Amino acid sequence: MDVRLQPWSESALDLLRQLNTPQMRHHLGGPEPEEKLLVRHRRYLAMPETGSGCMFAILHGDEMVGSIAYQRRDWQGEQIYEAGWSVLPPYQGRGVAARAGLALIAIVGEIVARDPGAPRGLHAFPSVDNGPSNALCRRLGFTLLGACDFEYPAGSGILMRSNNWRLGLPT
Ligand SMILES: CC(C)(COP(=O)(O)OP(=O)(O)OC[C@H]1O[C@@H](n2cnc3c(N)ncnc32)[C@H](O)[C@@H]1OP(=O)(O)O)[C@@H](O)C(=O)NCCC(=O)NCCS
Repeated sequence: MDVRLQPWSESALDLLRQLNTPQMRHHLGGPEPEEKLLVRHRRYLAMPETGSGCMFAILHGDEMVGSIAYQRRDWQGEQIYEAGWSVLPPYQGRGVAARAGLALIAIVGEIVARDPGAPRGLHAFPSVDNGPSNALCRRLGFTLLGACDFEYPAGSGILMRSNNWRLGLPT
């Protein structure tokens, strides 16, 4: 299956709207109103300039079928990269996220190879009851460190019982 990552663009706003459903955001606090979605869209567009990470559209052929990101953040006093992913329902269960995840790991691996000061761990924090996302972490080679309380969305004060998965990045 042909899966590629494309840095977030103006045309990805429609994808963001398609991802903003009760089903897709079941483990992510539910759908957001349009104004919050637009703020999120602008933040994704600006991510590369800020050096904090990058949001990508997942392409299958020419079609946008999901999103995947890495983002630098502080976690319990340590700088880490955090990964997040979503695939539209018609494309789920076909290995899209697994392929996109490998592509993301390669991109973050290249950044780390160039920058000795970059974080050495890529983490994911799926809700403990998010079966597909936890299976994806395992499949991508992440190690389960244990459960934790994770604030999502960042800055919201809302805590989600999550698994802390970590993938070590080569030094
Ligand atoms: C998590 C998600 C991105 C996985 O995408 P996907 O393209 O369907 O995943 P893949 O087909 O690459 O499969 C990855 C793993 O998940 C497993 N999986 C996929 N769908 C599953 C399901 N409904 N139930 C249990 N496991 C499932 C696959 O079997 C595979 O594991 P395996 O290699 O051990 O067999 C997708 O389910 C999704 O977008 N969920 C909604 C948004 C979300 O919750 N994102 C995560 C936030 S942390």
